[in-house]
Amino acid sequence: MKKIGVAILGLGVVGGGVYKVLTEHREFYQKTQELDLSVESVLEPRRDRIEALGIPEEKVAHHVAEAVLNPDVQAVVECIGGVELARQYVLAALKAGKTVVTSNKELICKYSHELERAAKAHNAGLYYEASCVGGVPVIRTLLDGLQSNEISCLMGIINGTTNYILTNMTERGVSYEEALEEAKALGYAEADPTADVEGFDATYKLSILASLAFHTKVPPVKIFREGIGGITAEDIADGEPLGYRLKLLAIGKRTHAGIEVRVHPAFIRKEHPLAGVGGNFNAVFVTGDSVGDVMLYGKGAGELPTAGAVVSDIIFAATHGEHRYSPYKNTAAPDKETTFVDDFTCAYFMRMTVNDEPGILSKITAILGRCGISIVELAQREKEKGKAKLTLITHETHERAVKSAVAKLGATDYAVVESVIRVAQ
Ligand code: HSE
Repeated sequence: MKKIGVAILGLGVVGGGVYKVLTEHREFYQKTQELDLSVESVLEPRRDRIEALGIPEEKVAHHVAEAVLNPDVQAVVECIGGVELARQYVLAALKAGKTVVTSNKELICKYSHELERAAKAHNAGLYYEASCVGGVPVIRTLLDGLQSNEISCLMGIINGTTNYILTNMTERGVSYEEALEEAKALGYAEADPTADVEGFDATYKLSILASLAFHTKVPPVKIFREGIGGITAEDIADGEPLGYRLKLLAIGKRTHAGIEVRVHPAFIRKEHPLAGVGGNFNAVFVTGDSVGDVMLYGKGAGELPTAGAVVSDIIFAATHGEHRYSPYKNTAAPDKETTFVDDFTCAYFMRMTVNDEPGILSKITAILGRCGISIVELAQREKEKGKAKLTLITHETHERAVKSAVAKLGATDYAVVESVIRVAQ
């Protein structure tokens, strides 16, 4: 039986989960995989975490070199989080020829080119399934099951915190602030929720997934990003009669104009499979030229789902003769021949409060028309004396055209644009 010694760096939620999965399933992996996976070393500054897991003292390393250079260790699990220290630890492990498995999305999306170079130079593996969508095997699916396909679109709900907040706002009509506080109380949102609610977390994941799906480096700086902080209960309620749900979507498309990548709140038709993904669940919807549409759904975060993804990577590395690296030229910057679309197109929802007077509607539609924006549907109702609420959906149009129209409408004395939401197609 093949024996693989594992070092775990960091015993927080994910690292602690990896320890539990490895110890509780040790016999199962012996029987099913002919593999003896044993935790040989842990690095964790907090004694309470070590004691809570009942880890024997002889397995506790006192500095990183003791863990990664341990001759009984072949696989190093990085779960310390953050970027700089994690990068140094991972490089040290790779340079020692150890396979590294990490759940660190920011590290991978910013430094996978450097880490992979070190991995190749030292015949070490670098695996990161757990960095994107926790327990949902989306990276393995892109690399294995869908590798024969040319992928034209990848669209997902890849942040559980924001999905929990938006689902609560939708189902219970609560405000953004109230839903965020509940998410914090339940431990879904961090005390500082910026990374989740402002879309950084989803941007890092989309950078990794789009690079794999489109076979070219998609750095986070190329991704358009807008968070959910400006979403109101009224936005969500306005989508209801139009047949839309509001989600924070990560969208990657390969179009004739180039690669289009964006993370933003979007209305999506209720019949779309992603519209039914509620609570803190995640899903990724992929369109390939042979297969058509495929959707993966599950828990994108949490102790055991994420730990399970880490352990699956350890098993993959241990049961394959050669390590597998990115199926694209993994450099710091994208290929010169890759074009990114910055002025993307989609349909838009707009809500404005307008003066309820003769001729105002024609002035508004004239501004939109001059910006090249065509309207699919429009509804108006009285709001208060002399004011009306106007909602409309546009045909597919350019982002820049919408920004220009919003600026022009904002400069008038008869219209106040309150909300602009992109509509996913
Ligand atoms: N904070 C993330 C989420 C989980 O809410 O989905 C880790 O990526």
